[in-house]
Amino acid sequence: MRFGGRESTPQNFRKIQNPKSKIEMTKIIFDTDPGGDDAFALLWLQSLAKQGKAELIAVTTAEGNINSKSTFINASKVLSLGGFEQVELGRGVTVKNPQAADAAHIHGMDGMGNISNNLPAAKHDFEKAVYSDDLIIDKLNAYPGEVSILAVGPLTNLAAAETKSPGILEKAKEIVIMGGAFKVPGNVTTHAEFNIFYNPEAAEKVFSSCNNLVILPLDITEKLLFTPEMAEDIMSSSQNHLTQFISDLCDFMTEANLRYRQTRGFKGFLVHDGAAVAYLFYPETLLFCRAKVDVETQGKHTLGKTFFDERFIAKKDANSWVALEVDKEGLLASLLEDIKFLCMD
Ligand code: BDR
Ligand code: CA
Repeated sequence: MRFGGRESTPQNFRKIQNPKSKIEMTKIIFDTDPGGDDAFALLWLQSLAKQGKAELIAVTTAEGNINSKSTFINASKVLSLGGFEQVELGRGVTVKNPQAADAAHIHGMDGMGNISNNLPAAKHDFEKAVYSDDLIIDKLNAYPGEVSILAVGPLTNLAAAETKSPGILEKAKEIVIMGGAFKVPGNVTTHAEFNIFYNPEAAEKVFSSCNNLVILPLDITEKLLFTPEMAEDIMSSSQNHLTQFISDLCDFMTEANLRYRQTRGFKGFLVHDGAAVAYLFYPETLLFCRAKVDVETQGKHTLGKTFFDERFIAKKDANSWVALEVDKEGLLASLLEDIKFLCMD
């Protein structure tokens, strides 16, 4: 198989290289529910911002892996850790009837591997913070067509923004979503992936509101194993609060991922959310197909299942680029080098 080529093109799909060909200074809203792998993705983004490749214009936290107050505090602490505490932070819109329980068993009772007390104090005030949907609306109105939203939690904030201000999501340059499972089983139910299952109505709202979606599903993110050896490699490059945090979080997540059978017995943990960052900055590591993605919101057994029509017919209502293959070595090598850069004293 060749990335960017057509040698492995399946019969009924025209796989293409990621349409982005050059790296530019990208304005980013990071919508997230930290969450261990969210924290890694946020550190990666901060490294890219430190390198002058990304402009992080807001972080909008979401309820999901843990409650909205904890995801807000965690994001604030991780921003302080990486040196980006000045970035605006939104508090998550509450979900009335989430389909899933939180994921504290995977991410720790605090959502941060039970080590959030070792982090710098949160610099943002939850009580005074603007809601994430309002922040998304403000930023998209301020920079129409310029902002990439990286959404790596349940899609509640994005759906709420679209409900309040119909058409707003079309003002994003693109919406890059970690979520869904297409040709592999789900990770919460047989069919559904966590971010989509937590709030399927929100996912449906987003999928039906725009055609500028990029989707990084479990099909590729379950291949992204961050290993204890990688954490050791980072530790050997510099030793400070940041590398210690990475190492401790890796230890917790590795144990939890093994206990809950996330990694097929391999030692390490899945950095699902990093795939969204990779799409923007290392697009050569991913292969996509164009599709009209939809989500099941009614099914007794299939609630939260994402799917697309695989028949050999014109994709006239396509809304998404869906990643179905990944160069995992290339992606993880880039993650490692960028995290080391952030950790340098
Ligand atoms: C997704 O679910 C969450 O637990 C992770 O942070 C990731 O965004 C993977 O299914
Ligand atoms: Ca997440």
